[in-house]
Amino acid sequence: MSNQIRVGVIGCGVISATHIESYREVECVEVAWVCDVKEDRARGTAEKYAVPRATTDYRELLADGSVDVVSVCTDHASHARIVSDAFEAGKHVVCEKALASTSNALDSIIASHAAHPELAFAGIFQHRFEGINRVLRQLVADRAFGRVLTSAMTVHCLRPNSYYEDDWHGKLALEGGSVLINQAIHFIDAMAWIMGGVRSLCAIKDNLAHEGVIETEDTAVVALRFIDGSVGTMEATCASNLHWEHSLAIHGTLGAVEMRNNKPTKVRFADKQAEQHVKHLLETADNPEGVAGARSHYGTGHKAQIADFIDAIRQGRRPFVTGEMAAHANQIVLAAYRSADENRWVDVPAPMEDAAVVSTR
Ligand SMILES: NC(=O)c1ccc[n+]([C@@H]2O[C@H](COP(=O)([O-])OP(=O)(O)OC[C@H]3O[C@@H](n4cnc5c(N)ncnc54)[C@H](O)[C@@H]3O)[C@@H](O)[C@H]2O)c1
Repeated sequence: MSNQIRVGVIGCGVISATHIESYREVECVEVAWVCDVKEDRARGTAEKYAVPRATTDYRELLADGSVDVVSVCTDHASHARIVSDAFEAGKHVVCEKALASTSNALDSIIASHAAHPELAFAGIFQHRFEGINRVLRQLVADRAFGRVLTSAMTVHCLRPNSYYEDDWHGKLALEGGSVLINQAIHFIDAMAWIMGGVRSLCAIKDNLAHEGVIETEDTAVVALRFIDGSVGTMEATCASNLHWEHSLAIHGTLGAVEMRNNKPTKVRFADKQAEQHVKHLLETADNPEGVAGARSHYGTGHKAQIADFIDAIRQGRRPFVTGEMAAHANQIVLAAYRSADENRWVDVPAPMEDAAVVSTR
């Protein structure tokens, strides 16, 4: 393949601008198509970004043999069909979180990539590109905390009723859930990635502040058993007056850290030299440069993730966050829904090893 990479973006809503802006900053990448079932959105996006082709039918975009890459930026329930069709059409795929709204849809996405391991597949979890999350993951992997005992994640944000006035948010069949699958999933992914994966969980969920507005949950608490044997909790609500506040605490036999909005608020280790070292790592961890004008709660990782994805295609390596890796957070969320619905502990499938070997076409 020539060095030029041609991209089609499917779904021209809120997040599509971040994808398009990110692609535009990678050398020799052209956004060649945009698609939205709403014609005015497809045309408006094409005009705004001088994209040559716009369509309301993504199959037209997939039929263009000169398109190498597809970004899937539609509602959760539509991802599985579009991702599978894109792999069938021979496209590399980057899909927004959450990959899928049901377990069957998630399985079908994973199977559709397994049938095309020569194609690159990335699941968007941009927070994995933030320095602080990488540092925490490395500290856990290096056993800097000794044996981890507990970890606790909270995310509080505010989604007013007006947020749910569109076609899909708050509708079980299209969003698959609300605060866990949409807002908290970023922090669930980061926590599970840092801790090495979740083995089982028990959840409570409810709609406490959006009655008559959403069919889904706005508030949830999850008890967790991690693969390493440690225990943890997740608490999430999208009806809080704290708007986009998140925290993560990790307590081990040798030391503990507490983070608020990606900044360390407490660092205590028995060994004071170790404490200084961890403090230094956490305080100096930096973030990639983000897309200008993107909402601050998205973090700055999208541009880095898109650049990594294009580089992965060019180098014939797997992306930093493959679709298979992104599936674990999705499985945690879907297990939490099952647990809450059935009032029992539920096992979570282990994080997948990505077997795909991508070759340059
Ligand atoms: N990573 C992040 O920080 C982040 C932030 C916001 C949204 N998202 C994710 O991005 C995805 C889209 O969210 P959004 O907020 O942009 O939604 P949105 O409703 O603003 O946009 C989705 C668009 O997809 C279009 N669409 C639906 N089905 C389609 C189809 N079959 N073909 C073509 N177009 C179709 C809709 O008409 C709509 O314009 C979701 O998965 C969401 O969770 C991620």
